[in-house]
Amino acid sequence: MAHWTDRRADRGGKIVAGNWKLQPPRGEGVELFRAILAGLGDAPVGAGGPGAWVIPPAPYLGLFGGELSLGAPLGLGAQDLSPCGYGAHTGELGGELLADFGCALVLVGHSERRQGGESDPEVAEKALAADRAGLLPLLCVGESEVERDQGDTIAVVERQLAAVLATLAPERPLWVAYEPVWAIGTGRTATSEQVVEVHQAIRKSLARGGRDGAGTPILYGGSVNHSNAGALLAEEEIDGALVGGASLKAESFLAIVEAGATVSD
Ligand code: PGA
Repeated sequence: MAHWTDRRADRGGKIVAGNWKLQPPRGEGVELFRAILAGLGDAPVGAGGPGAWVIPPAPYLGLFGGELSLGAPLGLGAQDLSPCGYGAHTGELGGELLADFGCALVLVGHSERRQGGESDPEVAEKALAADRAGLLPLLCVGESEVERDQGDTIAVVERQLAAVLATLAPERPLWVAYEPVWAIGTGRTATSEQVVEVHQAIRKSLARGGRDGAGTPILYGGSVNHSNAGALLAEEEIDGALVGGASLKAESFLAIVEAGATVSD
């Protein structure tokens, strides 16, 4: 069963999750995972579970799940799930199966999937399916550049959140990642001020939905790297980072984990 918590207060420090997307090839991926695990060493794991997470392509999950011991400083997440349970669903990958292979967390609503046509109700259905399977849904929300320019950032993020809040009971665990689409893979990181403003709006939405807004972990994602992570993670409002490109090199991922640990001390 899941060994994480949804409460900020129960966590020792910042959360750093590496979203590998559809990369790297097998040899490199196995090496990367082992280098990250070795780099974390015997990093302490608080009552809240691991602070570092890898979210690799699905075929890696079975391999890596077998290499993680109970209480390891590294958690395993999936990038997506099917809302289907076990059964005759060719090609689908359900939450129960992911959990069975060692996953504790799953991204839902990443912008790269929303751009592929995934709707708010579909994202909400996946969050519910994740919860049913005992996985922690990490809901990704964020505006496009046009939406920001039009002054619609908060409205977009609230709409994306609302679908999930209407579906997933308020007492069920949920993490959120604010990922402005214009900052993903572009090298254009949002400023701390921009992130804090949106995180505060997210906390208010969560509270309106009957959740513990202040206690819900909210990560920032979008061109986080070892140079900018320290300043972002120093913000009290920013509970962690969801890292794409910079999570594909052990040194840069570990440097971001270290930056999070340093500001938490
Ligand atoms: P990036 O990706 O760090 O490469 O911008 C972040 C993400 O898509 O989660």
